[in-house]
Amino acid sequence: MERFYITTAIDYVNSRPHLGTAYEKVTADVIARYKRLCGVPTQFVMGNDEHSQNVFQRAEELGLAPEAFCDQMEKVFREVWAKLDVSFDDFIRTTEERHRIAVTTLVRRIEEAGDLYEGEYEGWYCVSCEAFKQDKDLVDGECPVHRKKPEWIKEKNYFFRLTKYRDRLLAYYQANPKFLQPDVRRNEMLRLLERGLEDISVSRTGQQWGIPLPFDSSSVVYVWFDALINYIAAVGYGSDEARFAEWWPVDLHVVGKDITRFHAVVWPAMLMSAGLPLPRRVFGHGWVNWQGQRMSKSLGTNVDPLEAADRFGADPLRLYLVKEIAYGQDGDFTWERFEERYNVDLANNLGNLVSRVVAMAYKYRDGRLVAKTGNQTPLAVRAGEAVMRYRKAMDQQELHVGTAAVFGLIDATNEFITRSEPWVLAKMPDRQGDLDSVLFDISEALRIAALMLWPVMPSSCADILRRMGEKQPITALQLGRDTVWSNVERQVVKGPQLWPRLEIQNPKIAETIKVEMKGTEETMTSDIEPDTGPITEETATPDGEEASGSESQRLSFEEFVKVELRVARVVMAEAIPKSKKLLRVTVDDGSGERTLVSGIARAYSPEDLVGRSVVIVANLEKARLMGVESDGMILAATDPDGRPVLLTVDEPTAALPGSIVR
Ligand code: MSP
Repeated sequence: MERFYITTAIDYVNSRPHLGTAYEKVTADVIARYKRLCGVPTQFVMGNDEHSQNVFQRAEELGLAPEAFCDQMEKVFREVWAKLDVSFDDFIRTTEERHRIAVTTLVRRIEEAGDLYEGEYEGWYCVSCEAFKQDKDLVDGECPVHRKKPEWIKEKNYFFRLTKYRDRLLAYYQANPKFLQPDVRRNEMLRLLERGLEDISVSRTGQQWGIPLPFDSSSVVYVWFDALINYIAAVGYGSDEARFAEWWPVDLHVVGKDITRFHAVVWPAMLMSAGLPLPRRVFGHGWVNWQGQRMSKSLGTNVDPLEAADRFGADPLRLYLVKEIAYGQDGDFTWERFEERYNVDLANNLGNLVSRVVAMAYKYRDGRLVAKTGNQTPLAVRAGEAVMRYRKAMDQQELHVGTAAVFGLIDATNEFITRSEPWVLAKMPDRQGDLDSVLFDISEALRIAALMLWPVMPSSCADILRRMGEKQPITALQLGRDTVWSNVERQVVKGPQLWPRLEIQNPKIAETIKVEMKGTEETMTSDIEPDTGPITEETATPDGEEASGSESQRLSFEEFVKVELRVARVVMAEAIPKSKKLLRVTVDDGSGERTLVSGIARAYSPEDLVGRSVVIVANLEKARLMGVESDGMILAATDPDGRPVLLTVDEPTAALPGSIVR
């Protein structure tokens, strides 16, 4: 039976996780969740690499025993992973007993195979990399990764006969072209193998922090030899043979490109020596950079993933990491770019779509949607194509391509709404069947998109699925079966706005967002009613008696008073270039002047407005429309032709600007 075992690198715990290390865990989590969604039993293992000199030194600096320090750091790491919704099944620490047993067992097997011998190592050692370095590995005498001069060490070491496995490794690469991905890493390792290998030092003398060699307790196992063994320790090697037989060999090791050699050369050679099956795949992802440099604590170029998740939520951060960085290549993180993508992908595209679907479902059908068409409507066909593209990409770890395929469907659904104009159909008694189909189709396309996007944005997509009437928990859903276009009647569920738009201060970014907003002004202002702004779940009010809904859909008085309605006097108004519907209006609200964008240009010219007393929503989130920031909303009704009609004040000299409206 198919099963999937996936691991990430285990982290050194001398410092907190940064966004670079978090990137690896998030992307592996997306792959693990995708596999689970495909119905494949999955084992996803992460952990901490504790036997490092850096860890030992850091504990000393803090005056702690290394074990106690590692215990503290485990909590720190687990907290970050929980915050980012990383759903590992097992978390291994190299100080655990199961790991010690596995290391001791494997090192014995390697020794029994005659692959360890005693010698003396004299050369460079970079403590930050925990790696032996040769002159050719250094740039200006420094480790190029950590920009530090390595230590010169001379000590008795045991060596592993890596050279012995070169030909078998080459043969394995030839027989398994996908063993190491992406191709750029594979080619790099092939060149290395072709040039020839050297035996490597696998023990350190004079150190007490580590696992003693089973045959010479004066030395400890070199931290990398130790760490790699976590992958078999976690599935029971040496301690639970049945479990080991169930999960080994691993299906995918996800690691950073800097440590590909350990995983794609040293580790398979160790396994060959011990007579164990080799990993099926290794994926060497790229780096998350900060202003062009690798994000790293030691380089001082790091972003705290907790801060990023706290600011905007884990899901937007996960989406950014997966969608904006081509998996396998390096990518940059900047706050500006993150905010920009948040506004474009989430506030404007996906968030707007969710709001529109729910708002229209309630406005026109009290939330109840019935299917009138089969699975051959244009949107159904488009969804089918998106599912195929998504699955093909995800199966090949092209996470960014898979995610883009989902956003293609989201865009297509938004465009379909604009094209089919449900708000026009709603006014035509003979087109009510068409309206049913449009409403159903957009909810179904959104349901399928949310299911595909769930591995990337688990909590928001579970919420969107629920809003689209999905009754089953995500664990009961399966990608193959449940992305098929269904014609199941549904009750759409209301909820708060998912991703309120961020105010972007940088005008260049605000401009990019405007350009990328699909349908620009149309999307934002006129999909349902050509009045004051997009209909969202919050602003949609069902028409008439029948639509006034159940008691639970009414606002409580406490909820109503949260809306700050005030009288304001128009002091200036002007047209917004290239907009047929919007005016830029400056009002006096009693405490000063503010600018609002109002969708009333079809019925009012700027001159008509100056001096009038209007009613505004004063505590609405600011929004940017056609490049103009709008601070509030002017209330207007809609006449039968869809033209806006302003709400004005009966006695403007009595109800002065700033007066509260109830
Ligand atoms: N402990 C070793 C791995 C042992 S695996 C048997 C180690 N630890 S680490 O904490 O330095 O790095 C953990 C993982 O994070 C590595 O895969 C590393 O490549 C990755 N990253 C570290 N900085 C990164 C970025 N800036 N961007 C992306 N990944 C990064 O190496």
